[in-house]
Amino acid sequence: MTTAPDWRRMTEADLDAVVEVARVSFPDHPEDREVFAERLGLYPDGCLALGEPAQGYLVAYPWRADQIPPLNTRLGAIPADADLIYLHDLALAPEARGGGRAARAVVRLLHEVAAARWPAVALVAVNEAAPFWRKLGFQERETPAIRDKLKSYGPDARYMVRRLQRLPEED
Ligand SMILES: CC(C)(COP(=O)(O)OP(=O)(O)OC[C@H]1O[C@@H](n2cnc3c(N)ncnc32)[C@H](O)[C@@H]1OP(=O)(O)O)[C@@H](O)C(=O)NCCC(=O)NCCS
Repeated sequence: MTTAPDWRRMTEADLDAVVEVARVSFPDHPEDREVFAERLGLYPDGCLALGEPAQGYLVAYPWRADQIPPLNTRLGAIPADADLIYLHDLALAPEARGGGRAARAVVRLLHEVAAARWPAVALVAVNEAAPFWRKLGFQERETPAIRDKLKSYGPDARYMVRRLQRLPEED
């Protein structure tokens, strides 16, 4: 019997598959394997993989509100004054999309982040994915400084924040 792939913690053994899903999913914003490896090393609690071999991944880590980490750059360290969780990436291989799995990963993250007492999750929506994030309770936040920082992400990029008072049920 085969069962549908589910989300689990990412490990170093997933990195090749994760980089491949990223390459297909974000052709305009490639990021190096070592950048993924560093994020996994710094904050494994925020890294999920879908199935084995991985057909999708989610990467998140503590960061500062209204700040956007540069793409394809090592973080160096988790900031001591981090005040929310930044969801850096969520991507599924094209054949794994459309089954509600991406939303499940986000709901799982939201519950874990709320349990760890973080007040919010932030992200940059690209690839016209803002409606996907709105369904999950994220709202756009725009200030002149944010608009300036988003320039390198392309015209459809939006900074979005999800406060964690009210969460959807997990399946
Ligand atoms: C965005 C992405 C993760 C969504 O994955 P998915 O498997 O299609 O998402 P799900 O099946 O969990 O969808 C959950 C809901 O969001 C909707 N949805 C998904 N993508 C959407 C989009 N781009 N615009 C509007 N709604 C969307 C689905 O229709 C579904 O709605 P429903 O609950 O009413 O049925 C996937 O398309 C992907 O990997 N894209 C490439 C990488 C990317 O753009 N990531 C996001 C960057 S911020």
